[in-house]
Amino acid sequence: MTTEQTLLQFHDGRKIPQLGYGTWKLGTDIAEAAVAAALETGYRAIDAAHIYFNEAQVGKAIAKSAIAREDLFITSKLWNNSHGHEAPKPALEKTLENLKLDYLDLYLIHWPVPRAEKYVQTWEALIQLRDEGLAKSIGVCNFGIDHLQDLLDSTGVIPVVNQIELHPGFQQNELRAYHRDHDILTEAWSPLGQGTLLQHPDIVQMAQQYGVSPAQLILRWHLQNGHIVIPKSANAKRIRENFAINSFKLDDASMAKINQLDHADGRIGPDPARFNIVEEI
Ligand code: A2P
Repeated sequence: MTTEQTLLQFHDGRKIPQLGYGTWKLGTDIAEAAVAAALETGYRAIDAAHIYFNEAQVGKAIAKSAIAREDLFITSKLWNNSHGHEAPKPALEKTLENLKLDYLDLYLIHWPVPRAEKYVQTWEALIQLRDEGLAKSIGVCNFGIDHLQDLLDSTGVIPVVNQIELHPGFQQNELRAYHRDHDILTEAWSPLGQGTLLQHPDIVQMAQQYGVSPAQLILRWHLQNGHIVIPKSANAKRIRENFAINSFKLDDASMAKINQLDHADGRIGPDPARFNIVEEI
């Protein structure tokens, strides 16, 4: 990596930048410019997905950046309509074509889709794709403890990462403890609670105390908890702001205060146990 970013090591020995750039909700009209701004800022990890419908624009920004492939860390995700033994390979090939890449650094199953009962087969397919070199590392998103345990019991292969909804308002302590016990890194999606936490009085007060923005304070809380974090912003100024979080450190009291913002019902996105949509929404 060319920048001075913290790297976290997966149990398979490979490393990922702890701070990456998320591309969810970037429209096709702005995605290329936004990713270009992120790469220009210094982000080297880009989190994409088939279902974001902007992989082609993400790929253009990557290609135009002329950053060496080995200096980038590109993640994408298999959508719910491609579960099973056979469908993942063509899905990954399509993603690679869109991104104009020969391989991904990380390929993730986007949701377990429990009603389809195919996530174990899908995981077996991803193991094969990893062995073929199309994805250097493999992991999952939105898997609960039962789903992760199923993968482990059936294949003996643990995902390197589980990307989950995670922010101060929804901290998933039990799931994170399972991750720690099983060498799975925790990656936070919607790390800012989709912006909903930025006006919280405690967050605002602590941000003032540290002389940083509320977003920077929350992202720092993630880093100090060892999470991989992928804030998204369509705005070049905020893209830079979210990258500039290495010049301060939260003390234990501040970390504890943010920990107290956890709510059992703080989930903003879908509940993975009930999210069974297989269409391209
Ligand atoms: P915008 O794209 O206009 O910057 P999350 O990553 O938790 O899903 O949050 C993303 C939301 O937070 C987006 O609406 C984004 O809006 C906003 N956001 C991202 N970074 C910042 C920031 N530094 N300050 C304020 N809002 C931000």
